[in-house]
Amino acid sequence: MSTKQFDVVVIGGGPGGYIAAIRAAQLGFNTACIDEWKNEKGGPAPGGTCTNVGCIPSKALLQSSEHFEHANHHFADHGISADNVRIDIKKMIGRKDTVVKQNNDGILYLFKKNKVTFFHGRGSFVAAKDGLYEVKAGEEVILAKHVVLATGSNARQLPGAAFDEELILSNDGALRIGEVPKKLGVIGSGVIGLEMGSVWRRLGAEVTVLEGLPTFLGAVDESVAKEAAKLFKKQGLKIELGVKIGEVAKSKDGVTVAYTDAKGAAQTLAVDKLIISIGRVPNTIGLNPEAVGLKLDERGAIVVDDECKTNLPNVWAVGDVVRGPMLAHKAEEEGVAVAERIAGQHGHVNFNTIPWVIYTSPEIAWVGRTEQQLKADGVEYKAGQFPFLANGRARALGDTNGFVKFLADAKTDEILGVHIIGPMASELISEAVVAMEFKASAEDIARICHAHPSLSEATKEAALAVDKRTLNF
Ligand code: FAD
Ligand code: NAI
Repeated sequence: MSTKQFDVVVIGGGPGGYIAAIRAAQLGFNTACIDEWKNEKGGPAPGGTCTNVGCIPSKALLQSSEHFEHANHHFADHGISADNVRIDIKKMIGRKDTVVKQNNDGILYLFKKNKVTFFHGRGSFVAAKDGLYEVKAGEEVILAKHVVLATGSNARQLPGAAFDEELILSNDGALRIGEVPKKLGVIGSGVIGLEMGSVWRRLGAEVTVLEGLPTFLGAVDESVAKEAAKLFKKQGLKIELGVKIGEVAKSKDGVTVAYTDAKGAAQTLAVDKLIISIGRVPNTIGLNPEAVGLKLDERGAIVVDDECKTNLPNVWAVGDVVRGPMLAHKAEEEGVAVAERIAGQHGHVNFNTIPWVIYTSPEIAWVGRTEQQLKADGVEYKAGQFPFLANGRARALGDTNGFVKFLADAKTDEILGVHIIGPMASELISEAVVAMEFKASAEDIARICHAHPSLSEATKEAALAVDKRTLNF
């Protein structure tokens, strides 16, 4: 039997890999994608971390828990009584699993539609030979002219506290807790800590988050981080900053975390379950990079240049396994750009306009530079802010926390950053991304007609605020 040969072989079927494979196939390349993720029946489950244990399931649980919180605490404001509201955790987790499966199946359908050959199993380098790469795809060996590596990332381990996914949980276990823990501990107040902490707090857990750094959400605009800290505290999420984690010990009842607080005093936190969310590490397990001399950096990330080229000819890498933010949409953009570069086109990823979203309540979203970054960079800027409290749609929704904030160049008025904390910030941020991609000024947004009543009017008003001429505040 002759060895199958492909123009493009993608290893990893997460958002970086499956999108790269689809785009390569669209461009006319004979393309294969290899992914090893298994569903509970051992079948293929493409979509990577994002689909299986990341973006999609976390948003499903955030939605369920938000409904529960609304029924318990906010329906009454609308004159709706909902006594004795209960939650069936098994059903909630089952719904989340269905949503995940719909996405897995959707990707398999897209592979078929675009004529991408899918291999379910591990992909690894065998050798480089005669300008081609021999790649193991599950049980087969195939040949590739170009290889795109999109092997993603794994949760970072805290030394001395190995994940068992029963008591000490990574994002994987945090998404399938079987009953609401009375007390939940979280180490790391980053994106996962806040999103997962919010889910289980809304469902009734007493949640304590222990953070090593002295500042809360240091990468976020300071005024947004301050507002978020105030609102999360009001919701009952306990966040301790500046701690130093000591011994993490398991017992049959739960976990105890010994730590030193910000004042240097020894403390102990006893919880039923502990989520550890202290960042993620690039994953090249099983890829066999040594077989071809693929270069990794000291963090284990695949070394790439600005165009996602590795040190090897015709080998590219995208997504969490390379430098840059670990975000699904960043991985996708890189996947598209690489496929287009293979086709001789000018694939392009603008790192300055990648949006960030934290799906807490209220949501936090931003693009571009923060006020503290502009100060550090010595850039002269103007700021404009508009509160949702003064927005008609937010009042009608009963969701008036937060604000939209614009930062624009003091001389040219070019938008340098937009920071939102408030309802549907994840959707509102798109307008700012488009504006920045087109190098718009704050005045451009201020002069565009926005539907009334809509949350997007707060964006327009924040742009007007840059010139100190808000109309509704
Ligand atoms: P991955 O999605 O990790 O996919 C890599 C794939 O490669 C996996 O399927 C893996 O099994 C496979 N693989 C690895 N090695 C091999 C091999 N040798 N052979 C075959 N297959 C292999 N990002 C957002 O933008 N928005 C969010 O809301 C968001 N929420 C998140 C929530 C959580 C809880 C977590 C953990 C992450 C979240 N992220 C979010 C981050 C996002 O999931 C990642 O940035 C994204 O999945 C990276 O995509 P990727 O394609 O690089 O890698
Ligand atoms: P993170 O980098 O967002 O946050 C980790 C936090 O843990 C930081 O605040 C850090 O200071 C703290 N920390 C690190 N070591 C510590 C220690 N020893 N003790 C106490 N605190 C410690 O990482 P997280 O939350 O694990 O998420 C990983 C990545 O997944 C994110 O960076 C993001 O790229 C992605 N993600 C994106 C989401 C989104 O876009 N909505 C949602 C969830 C994850």
